[in-house]
Amino acid sequence: MSLIRESDSEATIEGVRLGDLAERFGTPTLIYSRAEINARVTAFASAFGALDHLPCFAVKANNNLSILSLMATRGMGFDVVSGNELERVLRARGDASKVVFSGVGKLAGELDFALCSGVLSINVESSDEFELALERAKLAGIQAPLSVRINPDIRVSTHPYIATGEKTTKFGVSAEQAAQLLLRAHASKHARAVGLACHLGSQMTDAEPLLRACSLLLSVVDELQTRGVELEFIDLGGGFGVRYNNEREFELGGYARAILGQIEGRGLKLVTEPGRFLIANAGILLTRIIRTKTNDAQRFAIVDAAMNDLIRPSLYQAWHRVSRASLPSDEASEGPWEIVGPICETADTLASGRELAIAKDDLLCIDSCGAYVSVLSSNYNARNRVAEVLVDGDSARLIRRRECLNDQLALETPYLA
Ligand SMILES: Cc1ncc(COP(=O)(O)O)c(C=O)c1O
Repeated sequence: MSLIRESDSEATIEGVRLGDLAERFGTPTLIYSRAEINARVTAFASAFGALDHLPCFAVKANNNLSILSLMATRGMGFDVVSGNELERVLRARGDASKVVFSGVGKLAGELDFALCSGVLSINVESSDEFELALERAKLAGIQAPLSVRINPDIRVSTHPYIATGEKTTKFGVSAEQAAQLLLRAHASKHARAVGLACHLGSQMTDAEPLLRACSLLLSVVDELQTRGVELEFIDLGGGFGVRYNNEREFELGGYARAILGQIEGRGLKLVTEPGRFLIANAGILLTRIIRTKTNDAQRFAIVDAAMNDLIRPSLYQAWHRVSRASLPSDEASEGPWEIVGPICETADTLASGRELAIAKDDLLCIDSCGAYVSVLSSNYNARNRVAEVLVDGDSARLIRRRECLNDQLALETPYLA
């Protein structure tokens, strides 16, 4: 579904014309809609209304401070995977007591920071990490709130790069090992056993694998209970799929009802870690056609955005809707068009075979760029990272200025011959 309203005059996002945004902020620029983010957060939270539920926004999807602060004002918790993500959350005035810390490679310093910040949970993913967390908690004189991430060995239908719940992946530990670690946490002076976690993958459209994972987690909860360990929550991760093209959006209502059926009466809180669902379709990438070019086989629209700004098509063969954001000019000609960037790689194709009437200098809008776009961008070909703008009704605010070459050079030591 597109964020953009196309009228006889010009495409708009909320009350602002994309043409005006291009003039004011330049291109390429990522533009987010505050109203759409709010609507997605509301839809997500109300789907789980009947449950004792803490949604923790997966910071990896979009870590801009203004976006995080918007999430914090909506009462969201956060799922972080690095000390720097935690720092961003705190600077955006996120509540540390609603933060879960996931990831297989946490360092001692990151654990210290999380423990001293008072996070809700450190989601441990190996016995080595478990030992380190205990050691750091002992040194700090703090009781570490520990959950263990189970790898349930469940396959989900998504791109293999973002499937994380099979035992061939690096994530989590077996259910048996999770139980053992939580028993040890319970017995330790330096830890509290607070939860069990899992995350099966991203961009999932089917709830059934998650429900199977939930049953597995609950069987471990039960086993621990018989041994005197009362957990506070289960964390079923994120991965709720959105529509980029004609896929089905993850049906949250049915999922939440099924989870309620499984956990009702157990006194357990549910934690979720949605990223993409809350922000993917609340952002667009605005780009301008530098020039067009035709060869024997293809017609190319060469735009000023490239794979360093939007890597999803080259990395995951992802499809993004592309539309014209300015009125058609007299020179416009019909496609199919290859929408490509200036980078010296054939992989720098943002969209292929698009039927659009376009010409040099036209503005294009690439949909669904709110999640896993800015955070995955790079300086490849020494390109500057794009500006980011938040639209709110009739106004627009810069929330990340466009990089300049001096930003890139500032980190380097000149080579002195
Ligand atoms: C542990 C964990 N939680 C949450 C997420 C968020 O996933 P999504 O953005 O698909 O909701 C991810 C993403 O891969 C993840 O690895």
